[in-house]
Amino acid sequence: MSYTITLLPGDGIGPEVTAAAQLVAAATGVPIRWEPVEAGEKAVASAGTPLPDAVLESIRKNRVALKGPLTTPIGSGFRSVNVALRQQLDLFASVRPARAIAGEGTRYPGIDLVVVREATEGLYSGVEHWVDRDHSAAETVNVITRKASDRILRFAFEYALKHHRRRVTAVHKANIMKTTGALFQTAFRAMAERYPQVPSDERLVDNMCMQLVKKPEEYDVIVTTNLFGDILSDLCAGLAGGLGIAPGALFGETIAMFEPVHGSAPKYAGQDKANPVAEILSLELLLRHLGEREAADRVFHAVWETIAEKKVVTYDLALPGYTSRPVPPSSCSAMAAEIARRVPLVDLSVALTTSGVDAPDAADPNLES
Ligand code: NAI
Repeated sequence: MSYTITLLPGDGIGPEVTAAAQLVAAATGVPIRWEPVEAGEKAVASAGTPLPDAVLESIRKNRVALKGPLTTPIGSGFRSVNVALRQQLDLFASVRPARAIAGEGTRYPGIDLVVVREATEGLYSGVEHWVDRDHSAAETVNVITRKASDRILRFAFEYALKHHRRRVTAVHKANIMKTTGALFQTAFRAMAERYPQVPSDERLVDNMCMQLVKKPEEYDVIVTTNLFGDILSDLCAGLAGGLGIAPGALFGETIAMFEPVHGSAPKYAGQDKANPVAEILSLELLLRHLGEREAADRVFHAVWETIAEKKVVTYDLALPGYTSRPVPPSSCSAMAAEIARRVPLVDLSVALTTSGVDAPDAADPNLES
């Protein structure tokens, strides 16, 4: 019996951090057959398109994918492959837990937030144009529908129930965006009435940013539209210790894709320097989705122990000012090897804060015999 999982190594640091996650996956003993496919810059060179059909076919067939970051040219060039993947596979729910790990690398050691972001519409709908020939004015359309709003809001409340979370906070800008913002707000209020057992409230996005920096412990599950979710999940990742440790999951009705919050960090590509933890914790979420709970717990404990012991950590976790004890930085592959070494040895009776990210109606894992 084995799982067949689509693997997108991605661009920049992607191949290094996905190789790290594969090493850790092998250490769990869970039988996984990886099906590698190329998208992004490499696919443009080899297939003439950043998103070849073979990528979509592989993910639709296997229904589970582990992805590295993909580069998007800034200001011109091809459209974001990340946005296209989410839209074409209808991966509507982006779930990004921000957990402090072993109190290291952060000024907020107790942080445990989850950003649930609508991932198919909003300001990322791709409807934009120049207003005049001189390119002196431009418009981007913010598409918000009741259907997509209801779907992400229901997901957030179901997620809160399933994972015994304390509260759901909706984030919008309905005071200024009196159609799109108000539509999302109205949908939220109606959904909140259907989940009276889950405490809920609302914040304007600007106030939310300030509140998160000042008293993040008061918040729990944050649900919002596409652009606000993109920004807030990086903010929350920063509060918890940085992009190097922030995993993510994307859920559709039948497909799930797991990827770190961070991008391709081109300046570190090929240097064996990037933190592999965000990709490894994305693997942890993937294992939970497959129902491989013990393996997922082992991965999380191994990451926790490695960061807590602080002998083999990458540069971002060794920065002076953010650590209890300055240490020389290790490479990406050395940290991955240390985490993999610990996976079979960890003591699972030690209780740690883990936020499992199973979809409320998760797809059946693609178990093969
Ligand atoms: P980025 O996340 O790649 O980098 C932001 C900062 O965080 C940089 O200083 C980088 O060195 C650092 N960083 C990122 N990942 C790290 C890791 N694992 N370990 C240590 N440090 C890490 O964001 P940026 O620079 O805005 O984007 C670079 C490219 O990535 C762009 O083409 C962008 O479109 C793409 N991107 C792709 C995403 C995806 O595939 N889901 C998400 C975000 C950006």
